[in-house]
Amino acid sequence: MGDRPSVIRLQRPSTARAPSFLESIAEMRALGETIWEGWEPGPSESLADFVRRLQRAEHSPAPGRVPESIYWAVRDGVVVGRIALRHRLNASLEEFGGHIGYEVRPSARREGVGKEMLRLLLARPKARELGRVLLTCAPDNIASNRTILANGGVLTRSAFVERCRRRTNYYWIDLSSTTPTTSRGSDRA
Ligand SMILES: CC(C)(COP(=O)(O)OP(=O)(O)OC[C@H]1O[C@@H](n2cnc3c(N)ncnc32)[C@H](O)[C@@H]1OP(=O)(O)O)[C@@H](O)C(=O)NCCC(=O)NCCS
Repeated sequence: MGDRPSVIRLQRPSTARAPSFLESIAEMRALGETIWEGWEPGPSESLADFVRRLQRAEHSPAPGRVPESIYWAVRDGVVVGRIALRHRLNASLEEFGGHIGYEVRPSARREGVGKEMLRLLLARPKARELGRVLLTCAPDNIASNRTILANGGVLTRSAFVERCRRRTNYYWIDLSSTTPTTSRGSDRA
């Protein structure tokens, strides 16, 4: 298995890809990983409404949430990850969460997907527009720390976040001085 995935594309949520996305969530749940509220369809929400909600998050987020662009990382027709770019920080995200959240489907981990989908997201116009993005992660989440470092993250501080009762590393990635790269797998949108 090579370090870099063959072809990864970031795609907007769609009903066509939703079953594959939900399989990836099921894999995470089977491992006892955190599934945050809103990642799945609600009890009385159809698949189409679920997808529309994810798409709308960019312009009309749920109350109390900042706008975010959500993408599914697709490889060979399979959703192998999810990554979201929040358009701005609020006090809560400054403390925990940052601009970007991501997960890779457990069965596709350690194949370079995390690094590649973050690279693709950082090359998107919205990220370039922000110029500088904050990412937070637990110090013991080796995979996430390395994913961020591989994409130019600079660790600026580490602090205990009372609200989540966990220590958090704060990384900034400066996008103002770098040129987005377009290697295989880059998306065109
Ligand atoms: C963090 C996560 C997205 C990484 O995705 P991934 O596709 O497995 O990562 P990659 O294969 O691109 O590897 C990225 C780096 O982490 C390293 N890595 C990945 N998994 C690792 C592990 N279990 N232990 C040690 N290092 C690991 C890789 O070697 C690589 O480092 P390198 O470039 O220095 O060689 C994935 O582990 C995940 O979804 N974790 C659960 C959710 C999560 O933690 N999200 C982030 C919250 S801040």
